[in-house]
Amino acid sequence: MTTAIVGVGNIGSAVARHLVAGGEPVVLAAKDQSSAQALADDLGPLARAASVPDAISAADAVVFAVWLDPMRDLIAANASLLAGKVVVDPSNPIGFDASGQMTRTLPDGQSAGSVVASLLPAGAHYVKAFGTLGADALAASSRRDPLAVLFYATDDERAGETAERLIRTAGFAPWKAGGVAAAGRIEAPLGDLHQYGFNGEVVDLDRARAAVPGSRV
Ligand SMILES: NC(=O)c1ccc[n+]([C@@H]2O[C@H](COP(=O)([O-])OP(=O)(O)OC[C@H]3O[C@@H](n4cnc5c(N)ncnc54)[C@H](OP(=O)(O)O)[C@@H]3O)[C@@H](O)[C@H]2O)c1
Repeated sequence: MTTAIVGVGNIGSAVARHLVAGGEPVVLAAKDQSSAQALADDLGPLARAASVPDAISAADAVVFAVWLDPMRDLIAANASLLAGKVVVDPSNPIGFDASGQMTRTLPDGQSAGSVVASLLPAGAHYVKAFGTLGADALAASSRRDPLAVLFYATDDERAGETAERLIRTAGFAPWKAGGVAAAGRIEAPLGDLHQYGFNGEVVDLDRARAAVPGSRV
C-alpha cells in the first residue's frame, strides 16, 4: 500500500513523518515541488516526491493536507484520477481575519467534510481524518502510552478500514465519530470531538469511548 500526501505543511509533514515511521511508503506532492522533495529527502527511502497527478495515480489513498479552497481546486483538477481512491480529508472550515483572529469559513451547520465529500467523483471513497488535533499536538503525540485517539468520520466501509489502518500505522488509536453527517463534530472550531472541544486535551480511548459510546475500535 502507498499513500499520497498532497500538501507538506504543518499537517501533511506530520502525517508523512508518522506514516513512514510506521513503515508506510508515501508519495509527497506540494504546490512548490521543492518542499515535497526536501521532506522526501529527510524521510528517507520510504518517501519520494512527485507531481500531484503522479502522486495520486501511484497511491491507494490520498491525504489532501491543504486548506479548503485549494482542496476544491485540486479535486476538480484531478477528479478523473480519484475514482477508486480513498480520499482522506483533514480540513477544518477555518480562516484568519486581518487581525489574526480565527474565523469560520462556512455557514454554521455546514461541515467542511460535507463540502469535500460532495465534490468527489463517483467511486471515490471519502473519509474525514487526521484533522482532529492541532498540528503541534499531532506531531508530538504519536506512539504515546496510552495511545492518543484520532477520530474519523465516513459513510464508506473501505474508507473507514483504510483510515483505521493509516491511523494505527501513524501511531494513534482510531475511533469512529460517525458518518459524514458527524464530520462537523471532529472539525475546528466548534466540533465537540476536536481537540478544542476537549479544551486542548489529547484524548485516549477511554475518553473517546465515553464521548462516542459503541463505536468500532
Ligand atoms: N494547522 C493545524 O493545526 C491544523 C489542524 C487540523 C487540521 N488542519 C487542516 O489541515 C489542512 C492543512 O493545514 P496546514 O496547517 O498543514 O496548512 P499549511 O501548513 O499552510 O500547508 C498547506 C500545504 O498545502 C500545499 N498546497 C497549497 N496549494 C496547493 C496546490 N494547489 N497543490 C498542492 N499543494 C498545495 C502547500 O504547498 P506549498 O508549501 O508548496 O505552498 C502546503 O504544503 C487545512 O485544511 C487545515 O484546516 C490544520
